[in-house]
Amino acid sequence: MNVVITGASGGIGLAFVKQYSLRGDKVFAICRKANAELAQLDVTIIDKMDITKAANISQIVQQLKGIHIDILINNAGLLNNESLDSLINDPLSARNEINSQFQVNALAPLLLSSSLIAQMDSHSKIIFITSRMGSIDDNTSGGYYGYRMSKAALNAGAKSLAVDLEPRKIAVGIFHPGYVITKMTRFTGDMTAEESVSGLIRQIDTLTLENSAHFYHSNGEKLPW
Ligand SMILES: NC(=O)c1ccc[n+]([C@@H]2O[C@H](COP(=O)([O-])OP(=O)(O)OC[C@H]3O[C@@H](n4cnc5c(N)ncnc54)[C@H](OP(=O)(O)O)[C@@H]3O)[C@@H](O)[C@H]2O)c1
Repeated sequence: MNVVITGASGGIGLAFVKQYSLRGDKVFAICRKANAELAQLDVTIIDKMDITKAANISQIVQQLKGIHIDILINNAGLLNNESLDSLINDPLSARNEINSQFQVNALAPLLLSSSLIAQMDSHSKIIFITSRMGSIDDNTSGGYYGYRMSKAALNAGAKSLAVDLEPRKIAVGIFHPGYVITKMTRFTGDMTAEESVSGLIRQIDTLTLENSAHFYHSNGEKLPW
């Protein structure tokens, strides 16, 4: 299978690259800056790509030209932390931070996916790595305005895409990876990226049109919107 992964140079993205490549799949690893760990793997690296830039999305499409995509994993993401105080005291900086999270977390995955649909068929799957922090129902601790809003927006876009792609029989996965030890969590968490990705790959393997666009934890638990 041909698997395309964004945010492939570290954390959950790199764990996806390693596990799919170990399975014998052909991996296309999209990143902003390749590193030695990625370079030593037998994968195709699409380097120097900022997914928020329209020109870079065109370059990704160009570099994947002629490749049939079985699985696209929109994994790249950005977490800032705006508190209510920061919104009140430094609204300009909060506006910029929230805007960048929207660009990376919500808009870029949708636009990258729509750009690559022409290279998919009825067995293809589009995966969005979202967060339970985007769940409105699950929000009991507040804060993180831009991250929560952008991941909720991602979920909404992913659901629309699933409805629109149903006639083409392309399934859409909306998955929370768990609380994972990566750079994003400052290396706190209750599971490693490898453990999270094992669970996520199990979810992707069992993703069909029947469970398309449900919101699942990597452990299989169904999450509230
Ligand atoms: N870790 C958790 O507990 C957790 C929980 C819920 C959801 N998630 C989600 O899981 C996904 C992976 O996160 P992670 O934990 O592995 O974090 P991470 O180690 O910080 O990885 C995030 C990746 O996204 C890339 N990225 C950020 N902005 C980008 C841009 N503009 N263009 C291209 N790539 C960009 C980063 O590239 P650079 O290295 O170049 O910055 C990095 O490779 C994210 O969508 C995150 O929201 C994580």
